[in-house]
Amino acid sequence: MSSLFARKPIADLVPEGQEGTGLRRTLGTLDLVALSIGAVIGAGIFSSIGTSAAGQMAADGVTVVRYGAGPALVISFLLLGGVCALAALCYAELTSMIPQAGSAYAYSYATLGELVAWIIGWDLILEYAVGNVAVAISWSGYFVSLMSGFGITMPDWLIHGYREVLLAAPDSPLKHLMADAPHIGGIPVLLNVPAFLIVAAITGLLVIGVKESNQVNKVMVAIKLVVLAVFIVVGAQHIDMANYTPYAPNGFRGIHQGAAIVFFAYIGFDAISTAAEETKDPQRTMPRGILLGLLVCTIIYVAVGAVATGLVPYKQLLANDPLAAAFNQAGLQRFSWFISLGAVVATSAVLLVFQYGQARILMAMSRDGFLPKWAAKIHPKFRTPHITTVVIGAFVATWSLLGDASETYDLTNIGTLFAFMLVAIGVLVLRKIEPDRPRPFRIKFVWPVAILSAAACVFVMFGLPIEAWQRFGVWLVVGLVIYFAYGYKRSVLRAKS
Ligand code: ALA
Repeated sequence: MSSLFARKPIADLVPEGQEGTGLRRTLGTLDLVALSIGAVIGAGIFSSIGTSAAGQMAADGVTVVRYGAGPALVISFLLLGGVCALAALCYAELTSMIPQAGSAYAYSYATLGELVAWIIGWDLILEYAVGNVAVAISWSGYFVSLMSGFGITMPDWLIHGYREVLLAAPDSPLKHLMADAPHIGGIPVLLNVPAFLIVAAITGLLVIGVKESNQVNKVMVAIKLVVLAVFIVVGAQHIDMANYTPYAPNGFRGIHQGAAIVFFAYIGFDAISTAAEETKDPQRTMPRGILLGLLVCTIIYVAVGAVATGLVPYKQLLANDPLAAAFNQAGLQRFSWFISLGAVVATSAVLLVFQYGQARILMAMSRDGFLPKWAAKIHPKFRTPHITTVVIGAFVATWSLLGDASETYDLTNIGTLFAFMLVAIGVLVLRKIEPDRPRPFRIKFVWPVAILSAAACVFVMFGLPIEAWQRFGVWLVVGLVIYFAYGYKRSVLRAKS
């Protein structure tokens, strides 16, 4: 029993992180903020904002899947900024102690032991891979919108996945596709081809070793910021105050449930901890970078949320490309292609970062013996974990071809919130069992902060629909079965001891 909670000594973790010796410590606080904006601003603000504001009806047209926040979406963003700031403090303490490219998986192996590490690693597939399904679907929505600006259109059945149409409410303009799409063997053929193709392209790039460099990232970040600045500045001049009434149409329930989906917009700030090995004075720079990045994103989100819900009645934001749609409906068509272009760039950057991170996490798990050896194989020429990259790419691409965005946002959010919660608990456990280990960044009032952080994550999780909980439960059970059937016997740490 105790071996289930065997911890990987931190001393073992640190040298492992230096495998890539030769990595130069070049990143300062501003670079980290840029990395964070690169990983964070994407599908969440460009797409999930629509469902968050407008809510969602079930396919029966009667049941409410979630209540929307309406213009009070701004309050959802502020609340989430607080929740993520608490989580960021917890990440910062652990990253400063374990400045290794391993993310929550590595931290939990050192703090909460093997079983929890496996659960987190398995859970992170939801954050990274399933998250990317949602991002790919968002990319597709804006890509289609951008192309239509140039007069290029594709048949509807080639740009919407089967589940998206299946789950759409009866009054959705998509519903007719169930009958009108071509059928094979009585099943409608509904495929999100652009989403599939972008994931395939990103996977190809990652196999040959295109890593988003610091410079390229900065260019992408500049594009995102300019586009969102244009949205805010131009949009602000066309706000109709009448759209702010009612401000919170579904009260706190709407704000809470809206927050639970738009939480997606914040995911990724934790991913910059993977740059710890390339950061100058990581102990100090990392916590600063994480918190500052979060602050910048929160300010941008609040402004975008306020403008989007002021431009059009909030229900009209329910679209695959809500920000471009809001501009179109407000008579600002001449800018909407620009917004779509920004979204396509932003979501491409997120896809690259997440797909890259996922392959590295699986590689680490394979090295620890939890996954077959092939998952850690490195391509002789490209020096990339090519097999894992392709397997993950195929998984994400296939799901994107058929999937529904809201469903995948929910699953990603519940998985990520769960990981944040375990990280907060991990901070406390480590304070208890290794009180004297140097902590270059120490959370002040750690007990209230970490407990509040864990509680806040659970609170946001409760804003998600019951289906998300059920699927998450199934995912965890499958993970446990795999662990006991495979990883338990093959764990490298256990073999050593
Ligand atoms: N926060 C990232 C996005 O919104 C995952 O795309």
